Amino acid sequence: MTSDDNIRDYYRQRAAEYEQIYYRDIPKRRQEIADEETRLKELTKGKTVLDTPCGTGYWTYAASQTAKAVVASDLLPEMITEAAAKPYPQPVQFVLSDLHHLPFADGSFDIITLGFWLSHHRRQDFENLFRSLGRIIKADGLVWMIDNNPPAEGPGNHSEGTDKFGNNLKKRFLNDGREYVIIKNYFSENELRKIFSSFFTIQRLTFGNYYWSAVLAMK
Ligand SMILES: C[S@@+](CC[C@H](N)C(=O)[O-])C[C@H]1O[C@@H](n2cnc3c(N)ncnc32)[C@H](O)[C@@H]1O
Repeated sequence: MTSDDNIRDYYRQRAAEYEQIYYRDIPKRRQEIADEETRLKELTKGKTVLDTPCGTGYWTYAASQTAKAVVASDLLPEMITEAAAKPYPQPVQFVLSDLHHLPFADGSFDIITLGFWLSHHRRQDFENLFRSLGRIIKADGLVWMIDNNPPAEGPGNHSEGTDKFGNNLKKRFLNDGREYVIIKNYFSENELRKIFSSFFTIQRLTFGNYYWSAVLAMK
């Protein structure tokens, strides 16, 4: 099994319970998410947005409140089913697709949003990801990302080691106790600046306690 197989299987089984991560009762953590939602709604005002991978549509929903048009894509039908059940304020187009092969025309979107994805993406494939985002985004378009810092994982943030590319491996559990080992990378603020700087101009990097978020323009 490859690391991508593990991530796919884990999220397939987790689709129905995934969105619980947003509602854990830790007020400071919840506030960081709420603050980012406010920033995202401002960013997407009047824009054409691709949310990928959309998961259960948490950020799709935020964007749909202000965007001109929203497309949301994910690899898993189980996630799309969850996402499509939300009462969006405008029609959202859902597309089943692998983000390693995004099926969109060049220059399609003003904003591409990636929620909690970079940490799962193999480090050795960052360049491919950034290039494919660059292809489907408009010339003056922006990429938005949010992801975890270690405190968001709670006290038991044990690593199962790293692979030969430096990807951190971590156990994840479903509510029924089933266990998966998946890639989950964490980044310092300096490392993020380094990762992004070859491809993007960093318009904003917010490095919170629980989460980091970024708004990036293609170079
Ligand atoms: C951590 S969740 C993030 C979901 C959503 N962006 C959010 O922030 O709530 C990761 C998502 O990636 C999807 N996924 C995993 N591998 C993928 C791939 N190769 N292409 C597209 N989506 C993928 C999973 O189905 C899951 O919905």
